[in-house]
Amino acid sequence: MNEKYSEDQIQGLPFMDKNLDLEKRVEDLLSRLTLEEKFKLSSGRLMWHTKPIKRLSVKPFTMYDGPHGVRADTMGEIKSTYFPSAICRAATWNPKLSYDFGKAVAEEVRDVGAHMLLAPGINIQRTPMNGRTFEYQTEDPYLNKVLAVATVKGIQSQKIAACVKHFVCNNQETNRFNVSSEVSERALQEIYLPAFKATVLEADAWSFMTCYNKVNGIYGSENTNLLRERLMGEWDFRGFTVSDWNATAYANTADCVKAGLSLEMPTAKKYNKRNMRKAYQEGGFKEEDLNDNIRRLIRVMFLVGLYDDEKTLPKGSRNTPEHQAIARKVTEEGIVLLKNDNDSLPLNLNNIKKIAVLGPNANLSIEGDGILSGGGSSVNFPPYEISPLDGLKEKCLNKVELTKIPSEADATIIFAGLSHDHGMDAEGEDRNSFELPSEQIELIQKTAKECTNTIVILINGSPIAMNNWIDNVSSVVEAWYGGMEAGNAIASVIFGDINPSGKLTITFPKKLSDSPAHVSRRTFPGDDKVFYDEGIFVGYRHFDTKDIEPLFPFGFGLSYTTFSYENLMIDKKKIGSGDVIKVSIDVTNSGKFEGKEIVQLYVQDVESSVERPTKELKGFEKVSLHPNETKTVIIELKKEDFSFYNETVNSWVVENGTFNILIGSSSRDIRLQGEIEYLE
Ligand code: BGC
Repeated sequence: MNEKYSEDQIQGLPFMDKNLDLEKRVEDLLSRLTLEEKFKLSSGRLMWHTKPIKRLSVKPFTMYDGPHGVRADTMGEIKSTYFPSAICRAATWNPKLSYDFGKAVAEEVRDVGAHMLLAPGINIQRTPMNGRTFEYQTEDPYLNKVLAVATVKGIQSQKIAACVKHFVCNNQETNRFNVSSEVSERALQEIYLPAFKATVLEADAWSFMTCYNKVNGIYGSENTNLLRERLMGEWDFRGFTVSDWNATAYANTADCVKAGLSLEMPTAKKYNKRNMRKAYQEGGFKEEDLNDNIRRLIRVMFLVGLYDDEKTLPKGSRNTPEHQAIARKVTEEGIVLLKNDNDSLPLNLNNIKKIAVLGPNANLSIEGDGILSGGGSSVNFPPYEISPLDGLKEKCLNKVELTKIPSEADATIIFAGLSHDHGMDAEGEDRNSFELPSEQIELIQKTAKECTNTIVILINGSPIAMNNWIDNVSSVVEAWYGGMEAGNAIASVIFGDINPSGKLTITFPKKLSDSPAHVSRRTFPGDDKVFYDEGIFVGYRHFDTKDIEPLFPFGFGLSYTTFSYENLMIDKKKIGSGDVIKVSIDVTNSGKFEGKEIVQLYVQDVESSVERPTKELKGFEKVSLHPNETKTVIIELKKEDFSFYNETVNSWVVENGTFNILIGSSSRDIRLQGEIEYLE
């Protein structure tokens, strides 16, 4: 302990031996650290790094945001690919694209010399009003899990650590540093935890970020039940936990150490040497607790190759055409066509002369009026941004005249929506209105009177009300914040080069009071506590069960073609524990355009001893089909897909009886139905 080593001696120490077993390297380094050095390693410095321990050549471990691209500095001097918002990526329902995104962004992390990406953000979209809805994936735990697992695998394929955040129930920004999310065990098990758990069990996530809020009265960073018991105990997580930036502000040093918080970021506060020494000397924690926290952190340091010869690590790259192409592809597949009366889209360049282009979001780009990227910590700075208007101009060049006068145009496109300003889609505050800004509503209403073919393209990251204008317009496209290639992706969808195939991953309510979290102040935003009184009835589980008609349901999205569903076959009529059922469906492209369909499988428990949602997503597949082509989609189901969390016995159970298997094009467009009998 505390020996001085020469550089040569360090090179000869067991932990530097790449051929030695990982755990032996970890234990060797851990055994050489003094208590003071362990204190030092427990907190960050300079916003994004851990502290070096020169005596043992322990280099700083570096981590950057975020969910939409790497942000290596806050001034925008280090450029990187700006990928579409997570909600757009999720709307592709394409795990392969999540993997590709993860891999690409990790290559950028490697290129800037960092080791961990502070992403993905996988909090459940409990309310459309959360300022960070755009950064998260969905309201549904199953879809959340599939996409989170793919993203983490993509990131870690490059030996870059993913940091899954924010663990857990950080579902609003209002009072985020103090509020306690009061949530039932069943809702935790069925809704809020599954994706987090799957990133550990199925993708071996190397890091978790704790939440700012309390969960049932205890802050995330000192929550023994969440960290030591569930994450590390039940799920056997081998990675380390990091606090959200300053999330330890109201926490207690010894409790954090005991709960399993390895790293306090961005700087030493609760984990500064003085506090650590005091808590230790007073018996607040044991060295063994701290050892476990440090062991986890250094294990990940080894996993990302911090001690290996850089030449042996995956190569980084940044701002490459390949990464930009992934950004564009994600947006092209994530755009959701919400309304398309009289097939007014796609526009045909050959029989249109003038298009009027209006709306505040037309010119969002670095060069334009504001940037598409932003909204808090997930901002990043791309080398260029194609604004919606740029994309349109490029496509129409020498073919169609762009004007600002709807009455003279064959079609009018209004780029409406929100922005990353405070009170809209931005971190730190929740949205201040569910409506579009009033001047946009007026613009849409006025324009629709002047041009019968008015198309609204929404640039935003969370559901908005449309009731007072949607009937006046012919088409509505949800284009989200589509990353640096947004304009090109939007143009390719509007003019039919790409057939839209995205589907909503969150219900769009007609009015906010229809939404499950918006019953009263108690349920949103709460005061010192916010009560998740809706329990498991989040998103479509609530709308279905309460029979409330949404504006657009979960899983909804139109296409320029049509799909027909036939021949539902279930290979077993009776199943028991251990069986796997194969559900197959023939899907045909019955229209004229090549297109992609997202086939969704929902399970419905016909009779249950406890209240269950009307249906729950348990499988999906995206298939690409030429006109007249048919493909057979096969989805497998297992016992777990029929289970619920029983709070009386504190475990997952399946009850004997009949379950309906619903196959749909959205959660409210069920095309085929079959049933199985579960018998234990
Ligand atoms: C956010 C995190 C982010 C961190 C570092 C916090 O405010 O909640 O998501 O990773 O800042 O920027």
